[in-house]
Amino acid sequence: MSEVLLEIRKMELRYGAAIAVRDISLSVKRGQLVAVIGNNGAGKSSMVRGATGLVYPSRGQVFFRGQDTTGLSADRKVSRGLVMVPEGRLLFPDQTVEDNLVLGAYLHGGLKHKASRSTLQKTLELFPRLKERLHQQAGSLSGGEQQMLAIARGLMAQPELLIVDELSLGLAPKIVDQLIRALSDLNKEGLTIVLVEQLASYALAIADYGFVIANGRIAREGPSSVLSRDPEVMESFLGKKKSTSSTPKPKE
Ligand SMILES: Nc1ncnc2c1ncn2[C@@H]1O[C@H](COP(=O)(O)OP(=O)(O)OP(=O)(O)O)[C@@H](O)[C@H]1O
Ligand SMILES: [Mg+2]
Repeated sequence: MSEVLLEIRKMELRYGAAIAVRDISLSVKRGQLVAVIGNNGAGKSSMVRGATGLVYPSRGQVFFRGQDTTGLSADRKVSRGLVMVPEGRLLFPDQTVEDNLVLGAYLHGGLKHKASRSTLQKTLELFPRLKERLHQQAGSLSGGEQQMLAIARGLMAQPELLIVDELSLGLAPKIVDQLIRALSDLNKEGLTIVLVEQLASYALAIADYGFVIANGRIAREGPSSVLSRDPEVMESFLGKKKSTSSTPKPKE
């Protein structure tokens, strides 16, 4: 059986008196591509913040590679391989593409080590548009290019698990298709990925397994091929967004 990389046990997360995550348990195995779907305000990003150490959960535990990491800072988690591409990208807009990428590798000493330089090379092969724009300011990139850069910056941290929060935010379907394919390719090369996404049909199309979050709890979970045929999931999350012909078929 494959190793469980991330395990969230009974997480509760609050912002003051407001409860954003009520009770979430989920696990992600090494090599999987897992989709997390759910409507606005369901608690997806809060769950991600709790998992990555940006906000500490008020209850429950977060295990990464078998160790309890609940109280660790986000930096410590990144250095263990738990890396997030945040909702809204949060790039450094006045810095160049290259500087943003080097900052992604800061826990590895920037480009000091050969491993970081070869990660940079591989990342630029995956996103040739970034290679052409290395000296351009990040803030002047198109939305799609900015999302590429956010993913690429995450890859520079040499993740074992990459959590991508709202890949599609504000992007045209054609660009979302391209980015979805890039994530699918990375997963095929062995990277474990959690894709948090409002466009459920896109996420389920490439995922092995999915979790549906509603009201701070897991409302459904299962293989994505099953979830994408579940009438309730379809009605709640897939109804408005028909999959385009270029969207890949669900993984069986
Ligand atoms: N910093 C904050 N302070 C107070 N409440 C917050 C904060 N961030 C989020 N919330 C609240 O927590 C709940 C869950 O929000 P969250 O951002 O986790 O949802 P989401 O599922 O990621 O939504 P979306 O699909 O819009 O990104 C919402 O009710 C939201 O208003
Ligand atoms: Mg969110």
